[in-house]
Amino acid sequence: MYIKTIVVVLVVALVVIQFIPVSKTNPPVTGEINAPENVMKVFKTSCYDCHSNEVVWPWYSRVAPVSWLVAYDVNEARDHYNFSEWSSYNAKDRQDNREEIWEEVEERHMPLWYYLIMHPEAKLSAEDKEMIKKWSEGSE
Ligand code: HEC
Repeated sequence: MYIKTIVVVLVVALVVIQFIPVSKTNPPVTGEINAPENVMKVFKTSCYDCHSNEVVWPWYSRVAPVSWLVAYDVNEARDHYNFSEWSSYNAKDRQDNREEIWEEVEERHMPLWYYLIMHPEAKLSAEDKEMIKKWSEGSE
């Protein structure tokens, strides 16, 4: 009886939280990063779902509470840097971002591990990493 009540409450709660609105935006792309084609390809496959205004919101981003986590991550990621607004950053910020990007990739912090479970194609190969490293040492 007790367990049944808990299950019912949980199911009702799950249904109710679906109605809490989640902001899943894609503002206009105002100044996309201009990197070599091979580097762009890696960024688009592995980073754009959080660090850009071209997020492909997956099906699970429609289901609370996962949707909250996805929306939170995208907001946080865009706050750090946004490939779609890259050209609005000054030279120093771009330089800092480049360095941080390589740091995060080298330390395997990015892309986020749980993102890779759903997007195995976003996993970075040794070649991908080498390309990012080279790019990060450049200046554009
Ligand atoms: C699933 C979403 C997601 C993906 C995909 C993703 N990031 Fe992030 N990224 C985040 C979030 C969330 C943060 C901020 C939280 C944090 O610092 O851990 C972040 C922070 C960062 C930071 C700033 C770190 C700091 O602490 O200053 C860098 C640099 C970064 N990401 C690079 C990348 C690169 C490069 C890729 C692609 C190879 C990538 N990210 C892919 C979500 C993502």
